Amino acid sequence: MERLLVRGGKALKGQVEISGSKNAILPIMAASLMCCGEVILNGVPELDDINVMSEALELLGAKVKREDRVLIINGRTACSNELPENISRRMRASNLVMGPLLGRFKEARVAYPGGCAIGSRPMDLHVKGFRHMGYQIREEHGLMIGTAVADQGKEVMLDVPSVGATENIMMAAAMTPGTTIIRNAAREPEIVDLQNFLNRMGARIKGAGLDTIRIEGVNVLGSVEHTVIPDRIEAGTYMVAGAISRGDVWIENVVTEHLQPLMAKLAEVGVEIIPWSGGIRVLGRPHYRTTDIKTMPYPGFPTDMQAQMMALLATISGTSIIVETIFENRFMHVAELRRMGG
Ligand code: UD1
Repeated sequence: MERLLVRGGKALKGQVEISGSKNAILPIMAASLMCCGEVILNGVPELDDINVMSEALELLGAKVKREDRVLIINGRTACSNELPENISRRMRASNLVMGPLLGRFKEARVAYPGGCAIGSRPMDLHVKGFRHMGYQIREEHGLMIGTAVADQGKEVMLDVPSVGATENIMMAAAMTPGTTIIRNAAREPEIVDLQNFLNRMGARIKGAGLDTIRIEGVNVLGSVEHTVIPDRIEAGTYMVAGAISRGDVWIENVVTEHLQPLMAKLAEVGVEIIPWSGGIRVLGRPHYRTTDIKTMPYPGFPTDMQAQMMALLATISGTSIIVETIFENRFMHVAELRRMGG
């Protein structure tokens, strides 16, 4: 799709069903590389990133099949441990195959994804974590090359609670001998979903959702069917769309708890949020109040909802202040809002 033409000025009204969380599905797809059988994932939306991850898995020898919203991945046939640059450059999250490849093959060669539009996004915390676990990691021609060298299973202390580093280390540790403890781990709901998925395959992981995660390595991970958690960012985007257009939107398939940080801010500006049996109803109001927002790791306000909230706050008279603390370059939408008169 080259462009979207939006004719505005209408209140959004109606019901919408939320898909499975993209940020939960990507690490789960990567973790499927460690499965000696078949993984069935339900609620998978049709998205580019998911297609890129499917290509990455196929390149590594796994078989991936899509039937409508169900993705079937056979990890048994995975045979390569090298992810080349032409895939890793297309999507940063492709680096999530590093942990599973180390876990399964004890050796991995994954091309660095490079920076992206919202910031430089280094991988030093992933690398440091693997090293603390007893993997030797060296860098050669843009490749991150990992080999198991020591008695494994150690304490990993993350300098900041990185989502990707927590997931990558957790996946490697699931099949690395010994006990790995991750401290200052990220607490996002997608990490809890990954833990649940891995445990249902036979992994032994405790603590996801808290800041310390404990993983006992196992030798084999087996077949599993899993329904991914609903996408809190997709849900949040519809909530803000309902609020900004002063509409009435009924959002189905949500986990209310995952939306608390956003709901608290929406309530503060005066949006009415009403729970109903299927999920959440968002009722817009003609006038709202300003507020201040600072993005933080979960359970703080999510950086992935910052741009949407800025668009809403731009429609409210008075001054709101937004501080972005997660990514250094995530205000690109500001110029566009200004061009529209913000
Ligand atoms: C994930 C989400 C993304 C979300 C972000 C923060 C996926 C696929 N993507 O991205 O949508 O915006 O969490 O909630 O789940 N950092 C380092 N070194 C590292 C790793 C990270 O300095 O080795 C920094 C990053 O540059 C960033 C911060 O840590 O400033 C947080 O990044 P991280 O939590 O790792 O985000 P992602 O996992 O890339």
